Amino acid sequence: MVEFEQKLRGNIAVSVNPLGRKQQVLNHIDYVKSQGSYEGPKKVLIIGASSSYGLATRISLAFGAGADTIGVSFEKGPKSERNLGTAGWYNNIFFKEAAEKEGLIAKNFVQDAFSNETKQEVINYIKNEFGGKVDLVVYSLASGRRTDSETGETYTSSIKAIGEPVVGPNINMQKEEYYTETLEPATEQEIEDTVKVMGGEDWERWMKALKEADVLADGVLTTNYSYLGSELNHPYYGHGTLGRAKADCDEKAENINELLKDIDGKAQIVVATAVTTKASSVIPFFPVYCIGLYKVMSEKGTHETPIMHMDRIYREMIYGNKSEYDEQGRLRPDSWELDSDTQAQTKALIGEINEENFTTDKTAYALFYKEFSNLSGFMVDNCEEQNVTIEELKALEY
Ligand code: NAI
Repeated sequence: MVEFEQKLRGNIAVSVNPLGRKQQVLNHIDYVKSQGSYEGPKKVLIIGASSSYGLATRISLAFGAGADTIGVSFEKGPKSERNLGTAGWYNNIFFKEAAEKEGLIAKNFVQDAFSNETKQEVINYIKNEFGGKVDLVVYSLASGRRTDSETGETYTSSIKAIGEPVVGPNINMQKEEYYTETLEPATEQEIEDTVKVMGGEDWERWMKALKEADVLADGVLTTNYSYLGSELNHPYYGHGTLGRAKADCDEKAENINELLKDIDGKAQIVVATAVTTKASSVIPFFPVYCIGLYKVMSEKGTHETPIMHMDRIYREMIYGNKSEYDEQGRLRPDSWELDSDTQAQTKALIGEINEENFTTDKTAYALFYKEFSNLSGFMVDNCEEQNVTIEELKALEY
């Protein structure tokens, strides 16, 4: 039997419990079902479907709205007992298993979404086996690298400030340490490269390719998840390299709106709330913001996990009647996070967090750590099944 042990390198999970991931996918399906069903899209393509926001979107649309889904992701399977692959690999498998049990199509493409070949293969699949058209395209990629298919050049993103260095507190979950970090400003090249990786160019390429191939239904919607945050994280996020990449997505949304005009399509930027994910745990200072913010939001009853947030966005906002937009037309489900009293209390609390108290009940460290552990299948509620062999894991197919 495989032994599961949670291992971290800093704030990066380097081990996985596949059975924990299975249970977590089932827990999320139960959550969506407990909210009832809703009228939504029936044929959905999700680019970046295997974890956090993309996976939560897929679960809500499949089990809430009865959608058939195609998921594109970049994950690794098991090689040995010591190298079980990535959490997203198992998320794809167990999502598919559960969706197929309910008669839904759940097709997984585990390959580079940035490449032209992947785009072409997905298009062929839509044409030949998925009914010919999709009515929703979700772009939920988070990546540190991108190879541009047109030029063959590879770009690396940087999470850095712009202009001035930023000094602030951070935590290391592996060592349970609270320390001061300095984030250096990015060079012009680093800013440009981050925009290449995390900006909207590839989103626009996907939409152009799908449109040219005539696989977009009339009235198609495409969503892209952004983050704006508040003055508490502007210096390292909104006004940093990632903020530039998100601003590029706003621009590309306008191009896509132009592109989709003749089929009454729409590109929608969704400014999502701060949540614990593989990507957000490694943003400097962000974990400290989260342990302050979650404490305040939990007490107010407004703290959400990705499944709660995405289910609310699609069920109540996009396909419901509770949408809130800003003057730029972006959907703003992050209004709970940015609520002025929530932000004021978070600011005050973060000012009191220090190396002595950061893991105590004064903060939401325990909650953040549990949510982080859940991402790799540890500390998952109701997870009792523990026995599996490496052969059984290797035999699982996505
Ligand atoms: P994540 O790291 O949990 O998921 C990223 C997904 O992208 C995974 O499915 C992964 O397999 C896929 N992916 C990465 N590189 C790929 C490639 N080359 N080809 C195919 N698939 C690839 O990320 P998370 O946090 O769910 O982020 C998704 C989006 O949501 C990002 O745009 C992020 O900026 C945004 N967002 C995140 C927030 C947060 O607090 N985590 C807040 C607001 C927005």
